[in-house]
Amino acid sequence: MSNLRATIVGCGLIGSLHAQILHERSGVELVAIADQDEQTAQSLGQKLGVPSYTDFASLLANHQVDLVVVATPEQHRLEPTRLAMEHGAALLLEKPLGTDLAAADEVISLLNGYEHPVGVNFILHADGRYATMRDQVRAGAVGQVASTFARRRGTKLGIEKYAPWTDLLLSTAIHDLEMMLAINPSPLVRVYAEGVQRLCAPYGNEDAVVATLKFADGAIASLDTSWTLPGTQPEPLDPAFHVVGDQGGIFIDGSSHGMRVISEDAYRHPDMTHWPMLPYGMGGALTNAVRLFVEAVQNGSAATPLTTLAQARRAHMVVDALKESLAQERPVTVEDTGPTQAGAGA
Ligand SMILES: NC(=O)c1ccc[n+]([C@@H]2O[C@H](COP(=O)([O-])OP(=O)(O)OC[C@H]3O[C@@H](n4cnc5c(N)ncnc54)[C@H](O)[C@@H]3O)[C@@H](O)[C@H]2O)c1
Repeated sequence: MSNLRATIVGCGLIGSLHAQILHERSGVELVAIADQDEQTAQSLGQKLGVPSYTDFASLLANHQVDLVVVATPEQHRLEPTRLAMEHGAALLLEKPLGTDLAAADEVISLLNGYEHPVGVNFILHADGRYATMRDQVRAGAVGQVASTFARRRGTKLGIEKYAPWTDLLLSTAIHDLEMMLAINPSPLVRVYAEGVQRLCAPYGNEDAVVATLKFADGAIASLDTSWTLPGTQPEPLDPAFHVVGDQGGIFIDGSSHGMRVISEDAYRHPDMTHWPMLPYGMGGALTNAVRLFVEAVQNGSAATPLTTLAQARRAHMVVDALKESLAQERPVTVEDTGPTQAGAGA
């Protein structure tokens, strides 16, 4: 089988990791990369030994590609997606799909009827712990879900990097919200959120949010998310996810990644789950996500192993509803049809 020709548009934090993973993967040829920032594009291109472009359209004009990873900030998700679609490539889109539900719907309607694979990288579906929990809950291992709890507690690094152009719910908590929707079998009916704006007040968004969700079958869920702790927290994100049912429970406590490193000047929980650089190459959930998507494209599989557009849309719906609840200081009713589509996220 010939190599799958791949490219990335948007080579910042996550895009450069996608590029590294695709570059290391056998059966894949990373043909070129694009980033609108010349320095970013050039340095990654040189590191990986591939041509770099500041204009994605020029890249596509000069190279035939089979797979595009769109890893630009969500404000710039639509245009690269359109270009990649006109090129006829399989599309691995970073989450979120846009800045709000309306923007996500523009991406979704653009892709309506597209005949090539499309996946959205809600990375928890490629994290062994969360994927196992999801499948066991769906198989009835905990009985009927009664309550779900998710925590995602970041440091001020999140504020520095993301608060100027996105926000805590859309960039960070959306992962847990999407997973709550994925494991609860019935539609979401109501949400309520309380938030605090201090450090993020200049950007008009929240430092911390506590939220509750109510599903049509009576199940409840709660979320506790923030990004205010100092960088001395031993890991950038301290997550947890608990599911309690009438026949059992599953509890993910993610903070230590199973490894603690103590040195003279620091105590760290190094990343062993998201995108760790391991002695044998990059590992973790991002590598799994790329592998699953690449294999689906190579095998001509109709179903995406990652989150579908429909499930990504539900995640946007809940984020928008929580923001409405924050703005109006009251519970907000949600119009949701529940998980219906095939795919890991459905
Ligand atoms: N799935 C995950 O776990 C995960 C993790 C981190 C980030 N993300 C998502 O990925 C997206 C990017 O986040 P990031 O942390 O990599 O941001 P970043 O700021 O580090 O990188 C974004 C890059 O895109 C480039 N860019 C912006 N507009 C562009 C355009 N029109 N064409 C080409 N390049 C463009 C910028 O120059 C920058 O290098 C965000 O939507 C974020 O939510 C997902």
